[in-house]
Amino acid sequence: MNYILILGATSDMAYATAREFAQRGWGLLLAARNEKQLAVLKNDLQTRYNVPVHTLVFEAADFGSHADFYSRLPHQPEVTALFFGYLGEQEKAQADWEEAKRIIDANYTGAVSILNLVANDYEQKKKGCIIGVSSVAGERGRKSNYLYGSAKAGLTAYLSGLRNRLTAAGVHVVTVKPGFVATRMTEHLKLPKPLTASPEQVGKAIFKAYIKKTNVLWVLPVWQLIMQNIRMIPEAVFKKMNL
Ligand SMILES: NC(=O)c1ccc[n+]([C@@H]2O[C@H](COP(=O)([O-])OP(=O)(O)OC[C@H]3O[C@@H](n4cnc5c(N)ncnc54)[C@H](OP(=O)(O)O)[C@@H]3O)[C@@H](O)[C@H]2O)c1
Repeated sequence: MNYILILGATSDMAYATAREFAQRGWGLLLAARNEKQLAVLKNDLQTRYNVPVHTLVFEAADFGSHADFYSRLPHQPEVTALFFGYLGEQEKAQADWEEAKRIIDANYTGAVSILNLVANDYEQKKKGCIIGVSSVAGERGRKSNYLYGSAKAGLTAYLSGLRNRLTAAGVHVVTVKPGFVATRMTEHLKLPKPLTASPEQVGKAIFKAYIKKTNVLWVLPVWQLIMQNIRMIPEAVFKKMNL
């Protein structure tokens, strides 16, 4: 049986992705920091799909625990999908290092810490697939969310380098750039409907990207065009814009 390791399994996008894999008979290794929520997910997914579901406690910012966590997995995962992330509050993070650190650790440092281990393992086995959820916010720093954006920019570059390194070993890396998605993370924001995907759309697109070995997945392709245009705005103009 194939297993997928889902890091940040309590995310709405992660749940939708877990359903896509489980309905095709994959076993699930669900890792997150909220044990109660993990138990609810396990019950739900086992009942729906009758596949083995294991739950594991995982805190992205507890770097020292990652090697032990990965070496003790009950099954070797063919696919590792990383969903955890933290939007945080830009203004608060400008004045409060703890908030800035939470954003950086949840979106970048924590990802590097655990994916370094997964990458070395897959490289040695000469198989496997790593799926990382980054963000279009990483395409250009904006005053309204450049702490989150810069951490995601780091993640995007990291995943790109990982893909470049692991291709020779037959290991594939998918970078996911979802655009806006209607999840718990964005429920307080007013998002424009045509630019907003549902978690279910993301889950389906991720499964397809895994099968097709897509390198960079733009869940809503319009976002690729939007970000191309945003990147082309000259800095002299961009710095005066209210973005
Ligand atoms: N929603 C969007 O519009 C959007 C757009 C682009 C990219 N993204 C990215 O997509 C991914 C999934 O987000 P989502 O929209 O599905 O939001 P979500 O439902 O809020 O999921 C975020 C997940 O990250 C977990 N998390 C945060 N900090 C963590 C830490 N230190 N250790 C372990 N887990 C941690 C949360 O766990 P808890 O349940 O314990 O808090 C939660 O499961 C994130 O990386 C996000 O940055 C989202």
